[in-house]
Amino acid sequence: MTISCDMLVFGGTGDLALHKLLPALYHLHREGRLHRDMRILSLARSNHSRSAYQALAERHCRAQVARADFNSDIWASFAERLDYFPMDAAQSADFGRLAQRIGRDPERVRVYYLATAPNLFQDIAAHLANAGLAGPRARIVLEKPIGHSLESARAINAAIGAVFDESRVFRIDHYLGKETVQNLMALRFANALFEPVWRAGHIDHVQISVCETLGVENRGAYYDQAGAMRDMVQNHLLQLLCLVAMEAPVRFDAESVRNEKVKILEALKPISGLDVQDKTVRGQYTAGKIGGHDVPAYYFEKNVDNDSDTETFVAVQAEIDNWRWAGVPFYLRTGKRLARKASEILIQFKPVPHRLFNGSEANQLLIRLQPEERISLQLMAKNPGKGMHLKPVELDLNLANAFSQQRRWDAYERLLLDVIEGDSTLFMRRDEVEAAWQWVDPILQGWHQYYQNPKPYPAGSDGPEQLQHLLERHGRQWAD
Ligand code: BG6
Repeated sequence: MTISCDMLVFGGTGDLALHKLLPALYHLHREGRLHRDMRILSLARSNHSRSAYQALAERHCRAQVARADFNSDIWASFAERLDYFPMDAAQSADFGRLAQRIGRDPERVRVYYLATAPNLFQDIAAHLANAGLAGPRARIVLEKPIGHSLESARAINAAIGAVFDESRVFRIDHYLGKETVQNLMALRFANALFEPVWRAGHIDHVQISVCETLGVENRGAYYDQAGAMRDMVQNHLLQLLCLVAMEAPVRFDAESVRNEKVKILEALKPISGLDVQDKTVRGQYTAGKIGGHDVPAYYFEKNVDNDSDTETFVAVQAEIDNWRWAGVPFYLRTGKRLARKASEILIQFKPVPHRLFNGSEANQLLIRLQPEERISLQLMAKNPGKGMHLKPVELDLNLANAFSQQRRWDAYERLLLDVIEGDSTLFMRRDEVEAAWQWVDPILQGWHQYYQNPKPYPAGSDGPEQLQHLLERHGRQWAD
Protein backbone atom coordinates (compact mmCIF):
# COMPACT_ATOMS: atom_id res chain seq x y z
CA MET A 1 0.00 0.00 0.00
CA THR A 2 1.30 3.46 -0.89
CA ILE A 3 1.58 6.63 1.16
CA SER A 4 -1.40 8.73 2.13
CA CYS A 5 -2.00 11.71 -0.15
CA ASP A 6 -4.60 13.89 -1.79
CA MET A 7 -4.92 13.73 -5.55
CA LEU A 8 -6.51 16.80 -7.13
CA VAL A 9 -7.51 16.40 -10.74
CA PHE A 10 -7.87 19.64 -12.71
CA GLY A 11 -10.05 18.98 -15.75
CA GLY A 12 -12.10 16.53 -13.69
CA THR A 13 -15.01 16.40 -16.15
CA GLY A 14 -12.82 15.92 -19.23
CA ASP A 15 -12.27 12.76 -21.27
CA LEU A 16 -8.89 12.02 -19.77
CA ALA A 17 -10.13 12.14 -16.18
CA LEU A 18 -13.30 10.16 -16.84
CA HIS A 19 -11.94 7.63 -19.35
CA LYS A 20 -8.47 7.02 -18.02
CA LEU A 21 -7.59 8.49 -14.61
CA LEU A 22 -10.63 7.50 -12.57
CA PRO A 23 -10.82 3.96 -14.01
CA ALA A 24 -7.09 3.56 -13.26
CA LEU A 25 -7.60 4.80 -9.68
CA TYR A 26 -10.59 2.48 -9.31
CA HIS A 27 -8.40 -0.50 -10.30
CA LEU A 28 -5.68 0.55 -7.86
CA HIS A 29 -8.30 0.90 -5.11
CA ARG A 30 -9.79 -2.48 -5.93
CA GLU A 31 -6.41 -4.13 -5.66
CA GLY A 32 -5.71 -2.46 -2.33
CA ARG A 33 -2.86 -0.33 -3.68
CA LEU A 34 -4.13 3.02 -2.37
CA HIS A 35 -3.63 4.16 1.20
CA ARG A 36 -6.90 4.05 3.14
CA ASP A 37 -6.69 7.83 3.77
CA MET A 38 -6.07 8.81 0.18
CA ARG A 39 -8.61 11.30 -1.16
CA ILE A 40 -9.40 12.20 -4.75
CA LEU A 41 -10.82 15.62 -5.52
CA SER A 42 -11.93 16.40 -9.06
CA LEU A 43 -12.02 20.05 -10.10
CA ALA A 44 -13.78 21.65 -13.05
CA ARG A 45 -16.06 24.57 -13.83
CA SER A 46 -19.38 22.71 -14.03
CA ASN A 47 -21.58 23.02 -11.02
CA HIS A 48 -21.96 19.36 -10.05
CA SER A 49 -22.81 18.26 -6.54
CA ARG A 50 -20.62 15.54 -5.07
CA SER A 51 -23.24 12.87 -5.70
CA ALA A 52 -23.91 14.03 -9.27
CA TYR A 53 -20.18 13.87 -10.01
CA GLN A 54 -19.88 10.44 -8.45
CA ALA A 55 -22.76 9.25 -10.63
CA LEU A 56 -21.02 10.68 -13.72
CA ALA A 57 -17.75 9.01 -12.73
CA GLU A 58 -19.48 5.70 -12.07
CA ARG A 59 -21.12 5.74 -15.50
CA HIS A 60 -17.77 6.22 -17.19
CA CYS A 61 -15.94 3.72 -15.04
CA ARG A 62 -18.55 1.05 -15.70
CA ALA A 63 -18.05 1.65 -19.41
CA GLN A 64 -14.24 1.54 -19.21
CA VAL A 65 -13.58 -1.22 -16.70
CA ALA A 66 -14.01 -4.87 -17.74
CA ARG A 67 -17.36 -6.18 -16.49
CA ALA A 68 -15.71 -8.86 -14.35
CA ASP A 69 -13.61 -6.21 -12.58
CA PHE A 70 -16.48 -3.86 -11.75
CA ASN A 71 -18.30 -4.44 -8.50
CA SER A 72 -20.88 -2.11 -6.97
CA ASP A 73 -19.69 -2.59 -3.38
CA ILE A 74 -16.12 -1.84 -4.37
CA TRP A 75 -17.34 1.17 -6.31
CA ALA A 76 -19.20 2.41 -3.22
CA SER A 77 -16.03 2.20 -1.14
CA PHE A 78 -14.05 3.91 -3.92
CA ALA A 79 -16.66 6.68 -4.11
CA GLU A 80 -16.04 7.48 -0.45
CA ARG A 81 -12.64 8.78 -1.53
CA LEU A 82 -14.05 10.74 -4.43
CA ASP A 83 -15.24 14.31 -4.15
CA TYR A 84 -15.87 17.23 -6.48
CA PHE A 85 -15.18 20.94 -6.18
CA PRO A 86 -16.44 23.39 -8.81
CA MET A 87 -13.88 26.07 -9.61
CA ASP A 88 -12.34 28.00 -12.48
CA ALA A 89 -8.64 27.17 -12.76
CA ALA A 90 -7.99 30.52 -14.44
CA GLN A 91 -9.29 32.51 -11.43
CA SER A 92 -6.82 33.05 -8.62
CA ALA A 93 -9.65 33.75 -6.13
CA ASP A 94 -10.93 30.22 -6.66
CA PHE A 95 -7.65 28.83 -5.34
CA GLY A 96 -8.27 30.66 -2.07
CA ARG A 97 -11.60 28.85 -1.85
CA LEU A 98 -9.85 25.59 -2.68
CA ALA A 99 -7.28 26.15 0.07
CA GLN A 100 -10.10 26.69 2.56
CA ARG A 101 -11.75 23.54 1.41
CA ILE A 102 -8.74 21.22 1.64
CA GLY A 103 -6.66 23.09 4.24
CA ARG A 104 -3.06 24.25 3.95
CA ASP A 105 -1.27 21.23 5.33
CA PRO A 106 2.43 21.35 4.34
CA GLU A 107 3.03 17.87 5.74
CA ARG A 108 0.49 16.20 3.51
CA VAL A 109 1.52 14.95 0.06
CA ARG A 110 -0.64 16.65 -2.55
CA VAL A 111 -0.61 15.55 -6.15
CA TYR A 112 -1.99 18.11 -8.61
CA TYR A 113 -2.86 16.38 -11.86
CA LEU A 114 -3.29 18.90 -14.68
CA ALA A 115 -5.57 17.10 -17.14
CA THR A 116 -6.24 20.44 -18.83
CA ALA A 117 -5.09 22.31 -21.91
CA PRO A 118 -1.40 23.30 -21.61
CA ASN A 119 -2.24 27.00 -21.78
CA LEU A 120 -3.56 26.70 -18.21
CA PHE A 121 -0.43 25.07 -16.76
CA GLN A 122 1.43 28.28 -15.91
CA ASP A 123 -1.55 29.97 -14.27
CA ILE A 124 -2.45 26.92 -12.22
CA ALA A 125 1.09 26.57 -10.85
CA ALA A 126 1.25 30.26 -9.94
CA HIS A 127 -2.21 30.25 -8.33
CA LEU A 128 -1.35 27.15 -6.30
CA ALA A 129 1.77 28.91 -5.01
CA ASN A 130 -0.12 32.11 -4.17
CA ALA A 131 -2.76 30.19 -2.30
CA GLY A 132 -0.10 28.44 -0.21
CA LEU A 133 -0.90 25.06 -1.73
CA ALA A 134 2.48 24.31 -3.31
CA GLY A 135 4.43 23.32 -0.21
CA PRO A 136 7.54 21.12 -0.25
CA ARG A 137 5.53 17.91 -0.41
CA ALA A 138 3.31 18.95 -3.31
CA ARG A 139 3.78 17.34 -6.74
CA ILE A 140 2.49 18.35 -10.11
CA VAL A 141 1.61 16.10 -13.04
CA LEU A 142 1.51 17.58 -16.54
CA GLU A 143 -0.12 15.87 -19.48
CA LYS A 144 1.48 16.12 -22.89
CA PRO A 145 1.77 18.12 -25.05
CA ILE A 146 3.93 20.47 -22.97
CA GLY A 147 3.43 23.57 -25.11
CA HIS A 148 3.19 23.74 -28.89
CA SER A 149 6.79 24.75 -29.69
CA LEU A 150 10.19 24.90 -28.05
CA GLU A 151 9.59 28.46 -26.93
CA SER A 152 6.22 27.75 -25.32
CA ALA A 153 7.54 24.55 -23.71
CA ARG A 154 10.42 26.50 -22.21
CA ALA A 155 8.02 29.11 -20.86
CA ILE A 156 5.82 26.43 -19.28
CA ASN A 157 8.80 24.58 -17.82
CA ALA A 158 10.20 27.82 -16.38
CA ALA A 159 6.87 28.79 -14.81
CA ILE A 160 6.38 25.32 -13.32
CA GLY A 161 10.02 25.22 -12.21
CA ALA A 162 9.57 28.50 -10.33
CA VAL A 163 7.04 26.75 -8.07
CA PHE A 164 8.00 23.04 -8.08
CA ASP A 165 11.54 21.73 -8.17
CA GLU A 166 12.21 19.20 -10.92
CA SER A 167 11.98 16.15 -8.64
CA ARG A 168 8.34 17.07 -7.98
CA VAL A 169 7.33 17.58 -11.63
CA PHE A 170 5.91 14.53 -13.43
CA ARG A 171 5.50 15.00 -17.18
CA ILE A 172 3.38 12.11 -18.37
CA ASP A 173 3.84 10.28 -21.62
CA HIS A 174 1.49 7.36 -21.19
CA TYR A 175 3.46 5.27 -23.72
CA LEU A 176 6.19 4.91 -21.11
CA GLY A 177 3.67 3.24 -18.81
CA LYS A 178 2.77 0.56 -21.34
CA GLU A 179 3.87 -2.94 -20.44
CA THR A 180 5.53 -3.72 -23.75
CA VAL A 181 7.37 -0.42 -23.82
CA GLN A 182 9.01 -1.35 -20.56
CA ASN A 183 9.58 -4.81 -21.95
CA LEU A 184 11.69 -3.18 -24.60
CA MET A 185 14.13 -2.22 -21.86
CA ALA A 186 14.00 -5.75 -20.45
CA LEU A 187 14.61 -7.20 -23.90
CA ARG A 188 17.61 -4.98 -24.53
CA PHE A 189 19.21 -4.78 -21.12
CA ALA A 190 18.40 -8.12 -19.50
CA ASN A 191 19.37 -10.36 -22.44
CA ALA A 192 22.98 -10.58 -23.56
CA LEU A 193 21.89 -11.85 -26.96
CA PHE A 194 20.94 -8.63 -28.69
CA GLU A 195 23.51 -6.11 -27.50
CA PRO A 196 26.38 -7.13 -29.83
CA VAL A 197 24.17 -6.76 -32.92
CA TRP A 198 22.19 -3.72 -31.74
CA ARG A 199 24.12 -1.21 -33.85
CA ALA A 200 24.81 0.17 -37.29
CA GLY A 201 27.08 -2.69 -38.37
CA HIS A 202 24.17 -5.18 -38.10
CA ILE A 203 20.97 -3.19 -38.34
CA ASP A 204 19.80 -1.88 -41.69
CA HIS A 205 17.01 0.34 -40.40
CA VAL A 206 14.29 0.66 -37.76
CA GLN A 207 10.56 1.34 -38.27
CA ILE A 208 8.39 2.75 -35.51
CA SER A 209 4.68 2.82 -36.35
CA VAL A 210 1.71 3.94 -34.32
CA CYS A 211 -1.34 3.50 -36.55
CA GLU A 212 -4.84 4.25 -35.32
CA THR A 213 -8.29 3.62 -36.72
CA LEU A 214 -9.82 6.29 -34.46
CA GLY A 215 -10.38 9.81 -35.71
CA VAL A 216 -10.27 12.90 -33.52
CA GLU A 217 -13.41 11.96 -31.53
CA ASN A 218 -14.46 14.88 -29.29
CA ARG A 219 -11.06 16.51 -29.43
CA GLY A 220 -11.34 18.39 -32.72
CA ALA A 221 -10.68 21.81 -31.18
CA TYR A 222 -7.44 20.65 -29.55
CA TYR A 223 -6.31 18.43 -32.40
CA ASP A 224 -6.82 21.00 -35.11
CA GLN A 225 -4.29 23.23 -33.35
CA ALA A 226 -1.89 20.38 -32.63
CA GLY A 227 -1.81 17.88 -35.52
CA ALA A 228 -0.08 14.51 -35.53
CA MET A 229 3.43 15.94 -35.20
CA ARG A 230 2.73 17.64 -31.87
CA ASP A 231 0.17 15.10 -30.65
CA MET A 232 2.16 11.91 -31.31
CA VAL A 233 5.64 12.35 -32.81
CA GLN A 234 7.03 14.96 -30.41
CA ASN A 235 6.30 12.66 -27.49
CA HIS A 236 5.21 9.03 -27.98
CA LEU A 237 7.19 8.19 -31.11
CA LEU A 238 10.33 9.99 -29.97
CA GLN A 239 10.15 8.24 -26.61
CA LEU A 240 9.96 4.88 -28.38
CA LEU A 241 12.89 5.87 -30.55
CA CYS A 242 14.89 6.75 -27.41
CA LEU A 243 14.21 3.38 -25.82
CA VAL A 244 15.30 1.54 -28.96
CA ALA A 245 18.42 3.63 -29.46
CA MET A 246 19.72 4.63 -26.02
CA GLU A 247 22.79 3.19 -24.35
CA ALA A 248 22.32 0.97 -21.30
CA PRO A 249 21.81 3.22 -18.27
CA VAL A 250 24.14 2.64 -15.32
CA ARG A 251 21.16 2.04 -13.04
CA PHE A 252 17.42 1.76 -13.52
CA ASP A 253 16.64 5.04 -11.83
CA ALA A 254 15.16 8.33 -12.97
CA GLU A 255 18.37 10.23 -13.59
CA SER A 256 20.34 7.43 -15.25
CA VAL A 257 17.54 6.43 -17.65
CA ARG A 258 16.69 9.99 -18.58
CA ASN A 259 20.35 10.97 -19.07
CA GLU A 260 20.62 8.30 -21.75
CA LYS A 261 17.37 9.25 -23.45
CA VAL A 262 18.27 12.90 -23.67
CA LYS A 263 21.59 12.05 -25.35
CA ILE A 264 19.64 10.38 -28.17
CA LEU A 265 17.30 13.33 -28.59
CA GLU A 266 20.25 15.68 -28.75
CA ALA A 267 21.93 13.46 -31.37
CA LEU A 268 18.94 13.55 -33.75
CA LYS A 269 20.05 15.05 -37.04
CA PRO A 270 18.09 18.25 -37.68
CA ILE A 271 15.56 18.24 -40.51
CA SER A 272 14.96 21.76 -41.67
CA GLY A 273 14.19 23.91 -44.71
CA LEU A 274 13.87 21.93 -47.93
CA ASP A 275 14.85 18.68 -46.16
CA VAL A 276 11.23 18.41 -45.12
CA GLN A 277 10.29 17.60 -48.72
CA ASP A 278 12.70 14.72 -48.80
CA LYS A 279 12.44 13.31 -45.30
CA THR A 280 8.86 13.81 -44.22
CA VAL A 281 5.36 12.98 -45.45
CA ARG A 282 2.36 14.88 -44.17
CA GLY A 283 -1.17 13.65 -44.73
CA GLN A 284 -4.80 14.36 -43.91
CA TYR A 285 -7.66 11.86 -44.18
CA THR A 286 -10.53 12.30 -46.55
CA ALA A 287 -13.84 10.43 -46.36
CA GLY A 288 -13.63 6.63 -46.41
CA LYS A 289 -14.72 3.42 -44.74
CA ILE A 290 -13.46 1.84 -41.54
CA GLY A 291 -14.81 -1.52 -40.39
CA GLY A 292 -17.56 -1.23 -43.01
CA HIS A 293 -18.71 2.19 -41.72
CA ASP A 294 -18.54 5.45 -43.64
CA VAL A 295 -16.43 8.05 -41.90
CA PRO A 296 -16.25 11.73 -42.83
CA ALA A 297 -13.21 13.64 -44.01
CA TYR A 298 -11.11 15.25 -41.29
CA TYR A 299 -12.27 18.76 -42.21
CA PHE A 300 -15.89 17.73 -41.53
CA GLU A 301 -15.12 16.49 -38.00
CA LYS A 302 -16.69 18.35 -35.08
CA ASN A 303 -14.81 21.56 -34.10
CA VAL A 304 -12.39 21.30 -37.00
CA ASP A 305 -11.90 24.16 -39.42
CA ASN A 306 -13.46 23.44 -42.84
CA ASP A 307 -10.28 24.41 -44.65
CA SER A 308 -7.95 23.04 -42.05
CA ASP A 309 -4.44 22.11 -43.21
CA THR A 310 -3.63 20.23 -39.99
CA GLU A 311 -1.90 16.88 -40.55
CA THR A 312 -3.53 13.69 -39.28
CA PHE A 313 -0.65 11.60 -40.58
CA VAL A 314 3.12 11.99 -40.43
CA ALA A 315 6.04 9.90 -41.57
CA VAL A 316 9.62 10.99 -40.96
CA GLN A 317 13.01 9.58 -41.78
CA ALA A 318 15.01 10.33 -38.65
CA GLU A 319 18.72 9.79 -38.18
CA ILE A 320 20.84 9.67 -35.06
CA ASP A 321 24.30 11.14 -35.39
CA ASN A 322 26.26 9.04 -32.95
CA TRP A 323 28.75 6.19 -32.96
CA ARG A 324 26.19 3.39 -32.59
CA TRP A 325 23.63 4.56 -35.12
CA ALA A 326 25.40 6.60 -37.81
CA GLY A 327 23.80 5.86 -41.18
CA VAL A 328 20.83 3.84 -39.82
CA PRO A 329 17.48 5.46 -40.71
CA PHE A 330 14.70 5.36 -38.13
CA TYR A 331 11.45 5.61 -40.05
CA LEU A 332 8.61 6.93 -37.92
CA ARG A 333 4.96 6.98 -38.96
CA THR A 334 1.70 7.68 -37.21
CA GLY A 335 -1.77 8.52 -38.37
CA LYS A 336 -5.45 8.56 -37.59
CA ARG A 337 -8.20 6.74 -39.48
CA LEU A 338 -5.84 4.18 -40.95
CA ALA A 339 -6.75 0.66 -42.01
CA ARG A 340 -5.68 -0.99 -38.76
CA LYS A 341 -4.75 -0.18 -35.18
CA ALA A 342 -1.21 -1.28 -34.52
CA SER A 343 1.76 0.07 -32.62
CA GLU A 344 4.97 -1.70 -33.44
CA ILE A 345 8.71 -1.44 -33.74
CA LEU A 346 10.52 -3.33 -36.44
CA ILE A 347 14.26 -3.90 -36.26
CA GLN A 348 15.42 -4.87 -39.73
CA PHE A 349 18.80 -6.59 -39.61
CA LYS A 350 21.26 -6.57 -42.49
CA PRO A 351 21.48 -9.65 -44.73
CA VAL A 352 24.21 -12.24 -44.14
CA PRO A 353 27.48 -11.07 -45.71
CA HIS A 354 27.58 -13.95 -48.22
CA ARG A 355 24.44 -15.70 -49.47
CA LEU A 356 24.87 -19.45 -49.58
CA PHE A 357 21.23 -20.42 -50.06
CA ASN A 358 18.32 -19.45 -52.23
CA GLY A 359 15.52 -17.60 -50.56
CA SER A 360 17.66 -16.31 -47.72
CA GLU A 361 16.25 -13.07 -46.24
CA ALA A 362 17.56 -10.73 -43.57
CA ASN A 363 16.32 -11.28 -39.98
CA GLN A 364 13.64 -9.08 -38.47
CA LEU A 365 12.69 -8.48 -34.88
CA LEU A 366 9.14 -7.23 -34.46
CA ILE A 367 8.08 -5.74 -31.15
CA ARG A 368 4.36 -5.25 -31.11
CA LEU A 369 2.91 -2.99 -28.43
CA GLN A 370 -0.74 -3.02 -29.54
CA PRO A 371 -3.25 -4.53 -30.07
CA GLU A 372 -1.51 -7.67 -28.80
CA GLU A 373 1.75 -7.63 -26.90
CA ARG A 374 4.23 -9.83 -28.66
CA ILE A 375 7.83 -10.05 -29.68
CA SER A 376 8.69 -12.11 -32.72
CA LEU A 377 12.02 -12.83 -34.27
CA GLN A 378 12.00 -13.89 -37.88
CA LEU A 379 14.69 -16.47 -38.63
CA MET A 380 15.54 -18.38 -41.77
CA ALA A 381 14.92 -22.14 -41.76
CA LYS A 382 15.20 -24.89 -44.34
CA ASN A 383 12.06 -25.97 -46.16
CA PRO A 384 11.56 -29.71 -45.50
CA GLY A 385 12.54 -31.99 -48.38
CA LYS A 386 15.33 -32.14 -50.85
CA GLY A 387 17.54 -29.13 -51.50
CA MET A 388 18.45 -26.12 -49.40
CA HIS A 389 15.42 -23.95 -49.98
CA LEU A 390 14.90 -21.48 -47.20
CA LYS A 391 11.85 -19.91 -45.71
CA PRO A 392 11.34 -17.32 -42.94
CA VAL A 393 9.84 -18.74 -39.70
CA GLU A 394 8.92 -16.92 -36.53
CA LEU A 395 10.07 -17.37 -32.97
CA ASP A 396 7.02 -15.88 -31.40
CA LEU A 397 6.60 -14.75 -27.82
CA ASN A 398 3.07 -13.75 -26.91
CA LEU A 399 3.52 -11.82 -23.66
CA ALA A 400 -0.14 -11.91 -22.68
CA ASN A 401 -0.08 -15.73 -22.87
CA ALA A 402 3.28 -16.01 -21.14
CA PHE A 403 1.84 -14.14 -18.14
CA SER A 404 -1.76 -15.20 -18.56
CA GLN A 405 -2.47 -15.35 -14.81
CA GLN A 406 -1.80 -11.67 -14.34
CA ARG A 407 -4.16 -8.83 -15.25
CA ARG A 408 -2.57 -6.41 -17.72
CA TRP A 409 -2.24 -3.02 -16.08
CA ASP A 410 -3.26 0.07 -17.97
CA ALA A 411 -0.40 2.54 -18.45
CA TYR A 412 -2.14 5.12 -16.25
CA GLU A 413 -2.38 2.73 -13.30
CA ARG A 414 1.36 2.22 -13.23
CA LEU A 415 2.14 5.89 -13.79
CA LEU A 416 -0.29 7.16 -11.14
CA LEU A 417 1.22 4.79 -8.62
CA ASP A 418 4.70 6.01 -9.56
CA VAL A 419 3.62 9.62 -8.97
CA ILE A 420 2.22 8.72 -5.56
CA GLU A 421 5.47 6.92 -4.73
CA GLY A 422 7.55 9.80 -6.11
CA ASP A 423 9.36 7.72 -8.75
CA SER A 424 9.97 9.72 -11.94
CA THR A 425 11.88 7.12 -13.98
CA LEU A 426 9.01 6.75 -16.45
CA PHE A 427 8.34 10.49 -16.79
CA MET A 428 9.92 13.04 -19.10
CA ARG A 429 12.47 15.39 -17.68
CA ARG A 430 12.48 19.07 -18.60
CA ASP A 431 15.55 18.85 -20.87
CA GLU A 432 14.07 15.81 -22.65
CA VAL A 433 10.89 17.65 -23.56
CA GLU A 434 12.86 20.64 -24.76
CA ALA A 435 15.30 18.50 -26.81
CA ALA A 436 12.32 16.83 -28.50
CA TRP A 437 10.84 20.21 -29.43
CA GLN A 438 14.24 21.35 -30.65
CA TRP A 439 14.08 18.62 -33.30
CA VAL A 440 10.37 19.00 -34.09
CA ASP A 441 10.21 22.80 -34.41
CA PRO A 442 12.33 23.09 -37.61
CA ILE A 443 10.16 20.43 -39.28
CA LEU A 444 7.02 22.39 -38.46
CA GLN A 445 8.68 25.55 -39.72
CA GLY A 446 9.87 23.80 -42.89
CA TRP A 447 6.31 22.67 -43.65
CA HIS A 448 5.08 26.19 -43.18
CA GLN A 449 7.87 27.79 -45.19
CA TYR A 450 7.59 25.43 -48.17
CA TYR A 451 3.80 25.12 -48.15
CA GLN A 452 3.85 21.41 -47.46
CA ASN A 453 0.10 21.01 -47.47
CA PRO A 454 -0.99 17.61 -46.22
CA LYS A 455 -1.46 14.95 -48.89
CA PRO A 456 -4.94 13.44 -48.85
CA TYR A 457 -5.46 9.77 -47.97
CA PRO A 458 -8.81 8.00 -47.75
CA ALA A 459 -9.89 6.96 -44.25
CA GLY A 460 -9.32 3.21 -43.96
CA SER A 461 -6.18 3.22 -46.13
CA ASP A 462 -2.49 2.91 -45.15
CA GLY A 463 -1.81 6.62 -45.50
CA PRO A 464 -0.84 8.89 -48.41
CA GLU A 465 0.81 7.34 -51.49
CA GLN A 466 4.01 9.28 -50.82
CA LEU A 467 4.53 7.11 -47.73
CA GLN A 468 5.79 4.18 -49.81
CA HIS A 469 8.26 6.37 -51.66
CA LEU A 470 10.02 7.35 -48.42
CA LEU A 471 11.33 3.76 -48.12
CA GLU A 472 11.14 2.40 -51.65
CA ARG A 473 13.66 4.90 -52.96
CA HIS A 474 16.18 3.17 -50.66
CA GLY A 475 15.05 -0.32 -51.67
CA ARG A 476 13.12 -0.84 -48.42
CA GLN A 477 9.50 -1.55 -47.54
CA TRP A 478 7.13 -0.83 -44.68
CA ALA A 479 6.30 -3.90 -42.65
CA ASP A 480 2.57 -4.53 -43.03
C1 BG6 B 1 -2.73 10.35 -27.07
C2 BG6 B 1 -3.05 11.20 -28.26
O1 BG6 B 1 -1.63 10.85 -26.40
O2 BG6 B 1 -2.44 9.02 -27.51
C3 BG6 B 1 -4.23 10.61 -29.03
O3 BG6 B 1 -3.36 12.51 -27.83
C4 BG6 B 1 -3.97 9.17 -29.40
O4 BG6 B 1 -4.51 11.38 -30.20
C5 BG6 B 1 -3.53 8.38 -28.17
O5 BG6 B 1 -5.16 8.63 -29.92
C6 BG6 B 1 -3.05 6.99 -28.56
O6 BG6 B 1 -2.82 6.25 -27.39
P1 BG6 B 1 -2.99 4.67 -27.37
O7 BG6 B 1 -2.59 4.27 -25.99
O8 BG6 B 1 -4.43 4.38 -27.68
O9 BG6 B 1 -2.06 4.16 -28.43
